[in-house]
Amino acid sequence: MRSAIVRSHRLGDIEVPVMGLGCMGMSEHYGGADWDRSIATIHEAIEQGVSLLDTADIYGSGHNEVLAGRAIHDRRDRVRLATKFGIDRSGGDANRRFRGEAAYVQRCCEASLLRLGVDVIDLYYLHRPPQDVAIEETVAAMAELVSQGKVRALGLSEVSAAELRRAHAVHPIAAVQSEYSLWTRDVEQVTPVMAELGVGLVAYAPLGRGFLTGTIDRTKLAPTDFRSRNPRFQGEAGDANEGIAEVVRAVAQRLGAKPAQVALAWTYAQAERLGTSVTTIPGTTRPERIGENLAALDLVLDEQALSELAPLGERVSGERYGPGSVGGPRPAAPSVR
Ligand SMILES: NC(=O)c1ccc[n+]([C@@H]2O[C@H](COP(=O)([O-])OP(=O)(O)OC[C@H]3O[C@@H](n4cnc5c(N)ncnc54)[C@H](OP(=O)(O)O)[C@@H]3O)[C@@H](O)[C@H]2O)c1
Repeated sequence: MRSAIVRSHRLGDIEVPVMGLGCMGMSEHYGGADWDRSIATIHEAIEQGVSLLDTADIYGSGHNEVLAGRAIHDRRDRVRLATKFGIDRSGGDANRRFRGEAAYVQRCCEASLLRLGVDVIDLYYLHRPPQDVAIEETVAAMAELVSQGKVRALGLSEVSAAELRRAHAVHPIAAVQSEYSLWTRDVEQVTPVMAELGVGLVAYAPLGRGFLTGTIDRTKLAPTDFRSRNPRFQGEAGDANEGIAEVVRAVAQRLGAKPAQVALAWTYAQAERLGTSVTTIPGTTRPERIGENLAALDLVLDEQALSELAPLGERVSGERYGPGSVGGPRPAAPSVR
């Protein structure tokens, strides 16, 4: 398959390809981990220009950063590395804390640099707004990392518009990473402020964690696969959501494309309306899917497709995260906002 040419654009001071590679599933959340196939996938991505790698300190409790670091050690100059800190799972997932004290920020960054085996992180995200300190303290500590040359650009994940404004007043924020796809549009509450401040959107889980591709057998997910407990995949909600995947499949068939490509192309097609740049980071553990996903950049959705896909965000059943899920909302706790 001919690969699309990967355009790039700026997120703050750094240049990134408009499509990156989500590495999370190579270590955790989607069942098993296959080291060699993951390395091969990362290498294929870099060869094809999908050279923004997205990881986090918590993915596989460090495994994912080590994996990414090993994969790129001989090609660091061809890669943009994005990682995240801020979810402390050390007390167990049920007791996880969203942290951002200055000393913690510094320690997390140094640990990530060690695991990645690099001197600088290109894009460093706060994974979730902190519970126990004001976001200004966290972003000031992140800004200190920029001054130290350990980080090039700052990002935030899953913040509100108000949190973004407060953070941006402390140091320019290059990107907000939030779930964004045909079936998850919550971040559209934040994009007007992103547009105003010149902050790019990095859309995570653009394939609806695989659901929108129509290739996941919901009845055969391993217990270690978090989708086996995810409200959108299971029970009546999961059954109802099949109707969404069916619309994507039908659009794809009419256009001679794959459902995954339709889902990705839809996400890019929202950039003009949102007024922000859109970077997607689809996750895959299979080298052959890099080119397939990349071809979405060449897929033009016609008016009929866009009008069939537009209502799908309203049709989704079930929460994005189940109770106790690592990325889900933290149970009630004191919050300094
Ligand atoms: N900031 C946050 O809080 C946050 C939260 C979650 C994720 N993320 C980041 O976002 C990245 C992407 O999200 P995600 O991986 O959760 O979900 P996703 O990209 O929506 O979907 C990944 C799933 O889609 C499958 N897939 C990929 N390409 C495919 C294709 N062409 N055809 C059929 N299936 C395909 C993958 O399986 P195979 O491996 O079998 O291809 C995997 O099961 C993550 O890797 C992570 O880096 C960030």
